[in-house]
Amino acid sequence: MPQLQEERRESWGTRSGFILAAVGSAVGLGNLWGFPYKLYDNGGAAFLIPYVVAMFVVGIPVMILEFSLGHFTQRAAPDAFGRAHKRLEFVGWWGIILGFVIVTFYPAILAYCFSFLWYSIKGILNGGQLPWAGQGIEGVKRAEEFFYQTYLHKHEGLLQWNIILPLILSWLTMYFCIFRGVKLVGKIVWLTVPLPWLMLAVLTVNGLMLKGSIDGLTYYLIPDWSELLKPTTWQAAFGQAFFSLSLAFGVMVTYASFLHRKSDLNNNAVIIGLADFATSFVAGLAIFATLGGMSYITRQAGNPVGVEDVIAGGPGLAFVAFPYALAQLPAAAWWSVIFFFTLLTLGIDSAFSITESVLASVVDKTGWKRSIVLPVMSLIGFGFGLIFVTRNGLNWLGVIADNIYGTWGIGFVGMLECIVLGWFWRIDFLRRHANNRSDWRINRLWDFLIRIIIPVILGTLFIWGLYSDLTGKGGFLRDESGKLDVMNCTGFVVMMAAPILAISVSIIKSSKRTDVLMHGRGGTIKGRKQGFISLVFALIAVGMIVFLLVNAAGGRQYRIVLWASLLFAVAAVGLGNITLGKYNRQLTEASWFGRWGGMVGTLGISGFTATWLIYYTTVHAELTKQQRIHELMLVVLVFIASGLIWCTYKAILKPEEPFEPQLPEEIGDEGRADSGD
Ligand code: PHE
Repeated sequence: MPQLQEERRESWGTRSGFILAAVGSAVGLGNLWGFPYKLYDNGGAAFLIPYVVAMFVVGIPVMILEFSLGHFTQRAAPDAFGRAHKRLEFVGWWGIILGFVIVTFYPAILAYCFSFLWYSIKGILNGGQLPWAGQGIEGVKRAEEFFYQTYLHKHEGLLQWNIILPLILSWLTMYFCIFRGVKLVGKIVWLTVPLPWLMLAVLTVNGLMLKGSIDGLTYYLIPDWSELLKPTTWQAAFGQAFFSLSLAFGVMVTYASFLHRKSDLNNNAVIIGLADFATSFVAGLAIFATLGGMSYITRQAGNPVGVEDVIAGGPGLAFVAFPYALAQLPAAAWWSVIFFFTLLTLGIDSAFSITESVLASVVDKTGWKRSIVLPVMSLIGFGFGLIFVTRNGLNWLGVIADNIYGTWGIGFVGMLECIVLGWFWRIDFLRRHANNRSDWRINRLWDFLIRIIIPVILGTLFIWGLYSDLTGKGGFLRDESGKLDVMNCTGFVVMMAAPILAISVSIIKSSKRTDVLMHGRGGTIKGRKQGFISLVFALIAVGMIVFLLVNAAGGRQYRIVLWASLLFAVAAVGLGNITLGKYNRQLTEASWFGRWGGMVGTLGISGFTATWLIYYTTVHAELTKQQRIHELMLVVLVFIASGLIWCTYKAILKPEEPFEPQLPEEIGDEGRADSGD
């Protein structure tokens, strides 16, 4: 029986080294700056609903998946996926390439932080005078001007030399953090994780003690429920959750690959998820309480500035609104130092985590020396980063970052990850691997989450997003007047280049791979007939969905097609699932028809949900009340019926599952027999 060979691989010094590094990667600019703004912009406290779903139903299970994949294969993402199946390597590369895109612009933001930190320190030395300080609405204009004109457009020419220097500084810092390997990283994060937390706590307490902070918090937390009906709210929540947890970029796979063989996986994932969530939420309190305090102070001074006057998307919050707000407080320069230092220490470990995962991927694939790949890679990253310190750099940054969150970005890669591992690999096997070394155990529900539920959720968002990109007002690639939008087109090309590049790289033969088969492949293949039927059903479902979408989500006359597509898709998934459950055993292997059937069927269900939502938000809005009630009743009936069918299946048709013995390869992996779950 094929086994996973134990390999010598460098490892984190201690358990806390790993947890802190993973927390350091997760907790970054996305928390202090992305989350509060996204929450404010997408319905206040109402946003917490999709966000909590995204974190706990999708995020943490996917993190467990990435941890167990990385830990099991002891490989960075591409090779880890490649070991799952040789054709899957590209999934890993896709994420890594998107990660690389992030690591071109993330250091540019850190560069802003370096500069602003420098200005604040100079401010302290100058007796508290900050260059952007000013009062009232005039002061806000001044802060805006300082960031957008004085700082970003200091030089006439294309390159902004004043930002290049701090950009070099960011890359050098990152370089020196990781050049010695993860042992050193495990030590550095003892500084870069607790320190920003401490300072965040100081900022929060200070913010909450300011007069007027409550008014600021109402902006943050008053729920606007209607936002929940918009696809953009949900997309924002899921994109933010993936970005914030550093998922789908191969970072967590890579970090887990350096873990000691006996480390706990499930527990760590939960700890990291909770820590990330808490940091985001608290960061929001700090930001909005302080803005509330600012608003109060300006009112007292007779120059009122409201929270809504300063809060703006993107860098505006961190480099205009907040610096302005802090400038209103006593000891302003000190607070600015604390704030920018917090941002910097929050961001630096996120940035180097990506560099590390790209680095480990290249090293694992080629066998080249780390000490050579890292400087070359840093130079390339820095080179691309120069785009973001040109005159139009900030706009490019916005476009590229938007695309990372967009239709073809992280959400899509996350879906791909779950769906291919769920259907093409023995997900139960990874679950056992995780459970064998974890305090608390995940059960079968996790398999279903990874295989069906998460892909359906993310797939729905993808199809919904794609549909509105293609049909939305002016479309995505063209502006209102029908002219091509150059920036969006470029962003789109970058996004599309990622999979093409990923596939090309994965085709190149790795010099290092020792082909280890991992899950008892090679047994007799069974279940072809069921599998084939499943695939046919799935294709029918997808065909129907495509037909509906081409016909503008199908008017009422096509209702029956829509529901039929659901039926076919569910049947395909069910059949595929049964085939896998029945035949993926020690000596037999489920037919690939069934795997494909299940996978395509899962996409079919997403297609159904997306089409239904599109229909619901467009066509349906024009129906009469009575027609709508009929629709609703139909939906409820379908739910009840499927529930009944499920119960019957569980209660009568499905025989007791025999206890499944431990797989031999799992025992081999440990060198000792653990009890199964
Ligand atoms: N999670 C980091 C943040 O919230 C960003 C990041 C994304 C880091 C992807 C690694 C990979 O800022």
